[in-house]
Amino acid sequence: MRTVSTAEELRGQIAVWRAAGQRIAFVPTMGNLHRAHLALVARARQLADRVVASVFVNPLQFGPNEDFGRYPRTLAADTAQLAAIGTDLLFTPPVEAVYVNGFPPATTITVSPLSAQLEGEFRPGFFTGVATVVAILFDLVQPDVALFGEKDWQQLQIIRRMVADLRMPIEIIGHPIERDVDGLALSSRNQYLDADQRQLAPAIYRALTAVAEGLRVGRRDYAALCATQAETLRAASFQPQYFEVRTPDLALAPADAREFVVLVAAVLGGTRLIDNLYLRVDA
Ligand code: PAF
Repeated sequence: MRTVSTAEELRGQIAVWRAAGQRIAFVPTMGNLHRAHLALVARARQLADRVVASVFVNPLQFGPNEDFGRYPRTLAADTAQLAAIGTDLLFTPPVEAVYVNGFPPATTITVSPLSAQLEGEFRPGFFTGVATVVAILFDLVQPDVALFGEKDWQQLQIIRRMVADLRMPIEIIGHPIERDVDGLALSSRNQYLDADQRQLAPAIYRALTAVAEGLRVGRRDYAALCATQAETLRAASFQPQYFEVRTPDLALAPADAREFVVLVAAVLGGTRLIDNLYLRVDA
């Protein structure tokens, strides 16, 4: 695996592969890799001749009171894991290689109104930061296909919409959530949890599963279903921020919906956790 940190080196390598007619898959990350990231790379390997990964903790997607400063940075371990799983090229740019005219950039991308709801309501500017950096990285890597985890369901929909609206010739693939045995969705932020909080954390998945079970047996009182589970979380020391049933493209779910995504965000101690569950019910 080759590691580069300038746009010139990256573009040079991509040009060589393109000239040879090779198909390129891209997995953008913020590093601190775990099983869920490696699953994306493994899938990317199956879909293309070359796999490019990036590790870049993007300052534009963190709010002033968020965890940019303490976000775990583990580049040596990330590099070893990416090499072992068959990544061809790792891009680790400094901020100046991404935001070439200074930070913050004058030009940003906002996918509205999707960006203002759910996560966007509690993390203003987050999705503008994500869409902007992903567009810049897409422009540098020029992938045929790019992969994202479904844990960030809303992020995935926003990137799909950006790619469609800006006519980027890139196939976007979502990969199912990877969970610990007790149901907790894997996330770099799980390591902020202390031992007691880690014991409590799978309650989020149980709450999602309870709502999904209600939907499966025909309940369509979405707000009441979610309110009950939000209350259960509250009683277990969580502060739920949103708990909603939506359609997969994040529209409000109509009464005759057959496909759903149940989405939740809740704070436990000082740690904000998000999770979701997709389900399809038969008529
Ligand atoms: O999901 C992430 O890790 C980040 O939001 C992404 C897509 C790498 C953009 O910084």
